[in-house]
Amino acid sequence: MTDLKVSTKDPARTDADAIVIGVAAGDDGPRLLASAQLPKKTVASLAAILPALGVSGKADEVVRVPAGEELAATVIVLTGVGPEVTAESLRRAAGAAVRSLAGTADAVLALPADDADQVGAVAEGALMGAYRFDHYKTTDPAPVARLELATPLARTKEARAALARAQAVGDGVRGVRDLVNASPRHLYPASFADEARAAVRGTKVKITVLDETELAAQGFGGILAVGQGSARPPRLVKVAYAPARAKAHYALVGKGITFDSGGLSLKPAKSMETMKDDMAGAATVLHTVLAAAALELPVRVTGWLALAENMPGGAAQRPSDVITMRDGTTVEVLNTDAEGRLVLGDALVAACEEKPDAVLDIATLTGAQVVALGSRVGAVMGTDAVRGEVLSAAEQVGEQFWPMPLPAELRESLKSPVADIANMGDRFGGMLVAGLFLKEFVGAAPWAHLDIAGPAYNESAAYGYTPKGGTGMGLRTLLGVLEQAARR
Ligand code: BES
Ligand code: MN
Ligand code: ZN
Repeated sequence: MTDLKVSTKDPARTDADAIVIGVAAGDDGPRLLASAQLPKKTVASLAAILPALGVSGKADEVVRVPAGEELAATVIVLTGVGPEVTAESLRRAAGAAVRSLAGTADAVLALPADDADQVGAVAEGALMGAYRFDHYKTTDPAPVARLELATPLARTKEARAALARAQAVGDGVRGVRDLVNASPRHLYPASFADEARAAVRGTKVKITVLDETELAAQGFGGILAVGQGSARPPRLVKVAYAPARAKAHYALVGKGITFDSGGLSLKPAKSMETMKDDMAGAATVLHTVLAAAALELPVRVTGWLALAENMPGGAAQRPSDVITMRDGTTVEVLNTDAEGRLVLGDALVAACEEKPDAVLDIATLTGAQVVALGSRVGAVMGTDAVRGEVLSAAEQVGEQFWPMPLPAELRESLKSPVADIANMGDRFGGMLVAGLFLKEFVGAAPWAHLDIAGPAYNESAAYGYTPKGGTGMGLRTLLGVLEQAARR
């Protein structure tokens, strides 16, 4: 794991394998974003050769050059920041640079870090970019071992706080990615619950795990129905952080399908390839609660992980089965591949029983989300105020979420001739139909639903601080919502 420190030490004199310097893509060519601490001569000669090096400063451009004599480091890593220097462009530039440093021992980050926001952004990007999933693969180079972030603010309280926050985000995002990337042979409901138990040990977070017997006794018909086709039974995990004098109580609910085969409404092989990621919502909830506790936010947070494996075994639910949810609602299961809403419905009911001030759920819920917004933008639906909280938090932390409506007329398509509601409706607007189904289980609670089917998993090449595979997208936004509540 990468160790990150902030320091007021002169980056030019810091002995390291590499020194990372930013380049912006200016209107008239590349512009070096060298900190005032670097020698003027070095900066001038480096700036002069940028065009000849083919450096433009565009995002995700990383170029290595020998460092020369005025710098103690061996190589200079030039990282593109893009046209604008913002917290998010710095996060991405730091991430891309640090990702490229895999296999080296140490580096100094001489990126813009003149205020606490920039310090936090560079630190977050660096820690997220330093990620590697090495549980099964032993041949890739390890992430850079030590990073020193050069900033004149290093000894200030604000910089320390920004670093602590970046560390909590970095730890949380790594935790989510590790769970998402884990093979579903190893990660199933009971082992996920064990991972959660291990993760909360030594923290202020309390955990309760309901097994299949307790789920049955307490009427969790949705979670049980989805899990019944698997040899590995479902779980409902509750993780609670309850500080004294909390300003508000937020409930977070995560979809935790450890593998989604579709069940008897079996998916085609191609669509199944990434379905180990179908527990990203639950992983995000677990690690958001842990991050809130690590930062000692004055907000009570209760996380609910609805864990099941959706398999087509002999005991699997059938299309046209009618099940009874936790709140007594009967559901006609027309398509066993629309399983996320069944486990979430139960968990939302349980979450609302505690009467929290707001409920947020997060889920890789629909293929329609990917069709609508692609692989980098999440969708948010729900009641106006909480949806607004999510959008402003996302903007603040540098994640992309976009508001979506819940049109009342689409509710018609969920009508069932035999039960209170069907689990599938109109194909067109499928993301919104799924949202409308969930809405049935939150009653009057202030609520937001985050669909991260696209952004939870990166099937393309790595970019910025985002690796291939699990991304951890959504954690920063949920943490941002809690931080906003803490400030009110
Ligand atoms: N887990 C999938 C949604 C998904 C699709 C996530 C692609 C990530 C990428 C979900 O359980 C699902 O299968 N949804 C169906 C619902 C349909 C049967 C009503 C879908 O979106 O096709
Ligand atoms: Mn499915
Ligand atoms: Zn699913």
